Order: sequence, then C-alpha cells, then structure tokens
Amino acid sequence: MSFLAKNYNRKKISFVRGKGSYLYTANGTKYLDFVQGIAVNSLGHAHPELVKTINKQSKKLWHVSNAFLIPEGEKLAKKLAKKTFAEYVIFQNSGTEATEAAIKVARRYFYSIGKPNKNRILCIKNSFHGRTLAAIFASGSKKMTEGFGPKVGGFDHFKFGDHKSLKNKITKDTAAIMIETIMGEGGIKEVPDWCIKGLRKICDKKKILLILDEVQCGIGRSGDFFAFDKSKVKPDIVPIAKGIGGGFPLGAVLMNKKVASGMTAGTHGSTFGGNPLAMQIGNKVMDIVANKNFLRNVKKNSEYFHNELKKIKKNFPKVIKEIRGRGFLIGIQLYQDQTNFIKALMKNKLLTIKAAENVIRILPPLNVKKEDLDKAIKIINKVCEKF
Ligand SMILES: Cc1ncc(COP(=O)(O)O)c(C=O)c1O
Repeated sequence: MSFLAKNYNRKKISFVRGKGSYLYTANGTKYLDFVQGIAVNSLGHAHPELVKTINKQSKKLWHVSNAFLIPEGEKLAKKLAKKTFAEYVIFQNSGTEATEAAIKVARRYFYSIGKPNKNRILCIKNSFHGRTLAAIFASGSKKMTEGFGPKVGGFDHFKFGDHKSLKNKITKDTAAIMIETIMGEGGIKEVPDWCIKGLRKICDKKKILLILDEVQCGIGRSGDFFAFDKSKVKPDIVPIAKGIGGGFPLGAVLMNKKVASGMTAGTHGSTFGGNPLAMQIGNKVMDIVANKNFLRNVKKNSEYFHNELKKIKKNFPKVIKEIRGRGFLIGIQLYQDQTNFIKALMKNKLLTIKAAENVIRILPPLNVKKEDLDKAIKIINKVCEKF
C-alpha cells in the first residue's frame, strides 16, 4: 500500500539512476528520457559540471535567510540581468511561485502609483500557470479549479487567438496581460512573434503590463534564451523556473525597473527562495545555457529533429496531424487520443509525456546527442507503423 495521496496518475515504473538523456531502472533497463522532469533537466541527468557544483557548494553553505546578503544570488541576478531585459530579480523555488510573484509585482506596481483598483490580470483560457490557488484561477481551466472554490477573483480570460475578445476584455481595471509565450500543458501552442509584438503595442497603448510566462519555454528550451527573444519585444515581467535549476528546485521572477519600484522591503519574501545552494546551481546552468554557441547548437539539433519528425508526419498522414513547437519544446499532435501511442513509445524505451489536444510532448535535454535524436526518430517511426 502506498501512503502517497492519489493526486498523480503515475506510470508503474521507477528509476534508480540517470545519466544524460537516459534513465535506468533497478534491473538496469535503460530508457531514453525525453521528458526530463517536464523540461526541468535542461542539461540532462547528472551533468558533471552540475554534480561538481552541488558537491562543492554543499560542503560550504546550503541555506541562509534572506535577512542576510547572499552573494551567490547577487551573482545569478546579475547574469540574468545581463542576458535579458530584466533589471531586477526575485528568487523563488518553483514555477507557480514565480507566476504568483509576477501577479503580485504587477498589482503592487499599480498600487504603488496610486491605482489600487487596476489589479485585474487578463489570461488565455485553459492556459497553465501552476497549481497554487491564484495560478489555477489565472489558468481559467474548469478541470483545474473544480472543487477549489471560493474562486480567486481578479482574472479575466480570452480564447487563444481571439484578438477581438482580448481587446474587449481590457478594462480600466486591467493591470496586465499574462500569457505563456509557448503554451506547454495546453498542447505546445506558439504565440507567433507578430502577436507578441501586437501584445506589447496594446499594453503600451493601454498603459498596462506584459507578463510572459517562460517557466516551461524559457532558458534555452526554444533555441533562444527566451522564446520571446525572436520577437525583440521587452516584456515587463517574466516568471521562470524549470530549466534554470537544471533539476534543482529554482524559480524566479524577472522584472524591469519600473515595476520593481513597487516591491519595497517586506512586500514579498520566501524562506527557501534564493538559497546559496540553488543559486550556485543556477549560476552554473546560466554559464552553460546562456552561451551563444550552446544555443546555436540547440537550434541546429532541434531543427534537424523537427525536420525528421516532419518526414514521419508525411509518411503517416493519417496518424500525425501536426508537428508543433520550437527548439526542444516539441509536440506531436495525433488525430486520436495519444495515451496508447505514448505507451507504445515507452514499450520501445522512449519516455514522452502528454499535453492537451492529443499532443505528445517531447522534451529532450538541451544538450542531447544527435545519435539519441536518431534513436528517438527510429522508435517514433516504428510506433507509427503499428498505428
Ligand atoms: C508555463 C508554466 N507556468 C507555471 C508552471 C508551474 O510550475 P511548477 O510546477 O514548478 O510550479 C508550469 C509547470 O508546468 C508551466 O508550464
């Protein structure tokens, strides 16, 4: 009997070890892991540099309170600021904390300039911003919010792609528009660059803030450091998590100077957020992932993989409806429910995971070897033949 609550529908398999793109069971069976903790292990399992970093820091200092200066966090914030639009950073431990903090930063900014009623956040219906109470109501998903009332107010929703509704839903009380640049759980749906640009224009015109949730699609996953980089847009607030910790719990909210002005001492905090151990791991991930050559490689290898997937789609036009995504945030959309396909891939020792709209999500480590991509292509091809 398991004493774990039943809130997950777990596959009946566990692993004892991981190395790079692979996971190993107790009996030594090897699986190609293209889930990577759902876009968390940006550098695969047990990356030697991260192992070295965690070992070294664990002997020095794990945790001190944010009541004291934390130089390791100063260093990571500086790296993030140098690489991105951000001028200030608050560290958290997870994605949902980062999106909650993003909402708080937006509301607090308007409060601080004497507009406390400007507090509503406009989001995409059935998006995903995490599992805390505010985040589930921000997501606007019936499934996620059912039974968790009373409703957390302050969120409005528009349908993905419905620009008319988006514009109509902006009122004098709207503080910000918050969207995922690429919807992950929602089925790997990209918000095109021209839309991101359009959103920035609308936000400027209406004097509201733009929050781009890059928890899943950020930190190199799209082939750019941020998925919105291509659009050249500067958002006001960006929550990040997942990839920045390379497997260690780490989140953050990035913001510009204007909105940071509302976050005065005592307005937000976290016991664990920004601890030296997490910060040193984040620093190492940044050193590796924020590098131009590394990102160029992600682009090159992921383009190769996308092209191979498109060939499979062409060969199996009745099985695969669409290849979605960018970089190593990939969705294979099937015409039918994807559960059995994912099971068949797993039988062939390839691990993938579901997203909405019959999508199979494929999330290799960003430093995946070409031979492992080829192996996955072979397996996907083989499974398509049986469908
Ligand atoms: C876009 C996005 N935002 C927020 C979250 C929540 O992150 P976490 O599960 O770390 O709380 C996720 C998690 O999948 C996500 O994909």
